Amino acid sequence: MHILSPSMLSADYGYLADNFATLRRAGVTWIHIDNMDGAFVPNLSIGIPIVKSVRKCTDLFFDVHLMINEPIRYVKEFAAAGSDLITVHYEACSDLDATLAAIHECGVKAGLSIKPKTPVEVLLPYLDKVDLILMMSVEPGFGGQSYIPESTARIAAVRKMIDESGREIDLEVDGGVNDKTVQEVLDAGANVIVAGSAVFRGDLYETAKRFNDIVTARDQA
Ligand code: DX5
Ligand code: ZN
Repeated sequence: MHILSPSMLSADYGYLADNFATLRRAGVTWIHIDNMDGAFVPNLSIGIPIVKSVRKCTDLFFDVHLMINEPIRYVKEFAAAGSDLITVHYEACSDLDATLAAIHECGVKAGLSIKPKTPVEVLLPYLDKVDLILMMSVEPGFGGQSYIPESTARIAAVRKMIDESGREIDLEVDGGVNDKTVQEVLDAGANVIVAGSAVFRGDLYETAKRFNDIVTARDQA
């Protein structure tokens, strides 16, 4: 199943409820929610109260990306706020097994993310403990950056790893995915596409519909 997960980081925060309704009308089913702590990444964003508030105004699947050191400290609160999937960073957890277990104990899906310079092999021991792998294709912290070209080979390598594991793990790609790069990312084997600046610009309905159609068309292929 191929899914577009627009990144709320690029939305107009005064109009989130309207934006979500528009995304829904355009056929979108997921929303990617970036949470930054100003330490793991040099930026601050979103947080638990906002996730809780927006949960009341949409039934979109909450794809929650934690760019936070030792996220195990906040897993329960993010789950209670309405997350459907919580993704943590390999580089941010001193006890990754415990962190992934804590997410599953809350009854939500667990995702594992790696930054662009982290070797893909680190994922191998965790393939039976995650529901999704999130490959960063920019250094995390900011929307609107350019896709790092080396990401494509890394995505293909992780797709192969997942296929060989025989497990049903989603492969999500985040950072610099736009009209120019999306086909390459899909060809490499990603099935969940994050897009922030490429979706939240101009007429939201038009851009979201067009981008969502590009991604979901792969299910008919
Ligand atoms: C960056 C975030 C991304 C960001 C992507 O650290 O994890 O989700 O919103 O933005 P674009 O699609 O503009 O690169
Ligand atoms: Zn993200």
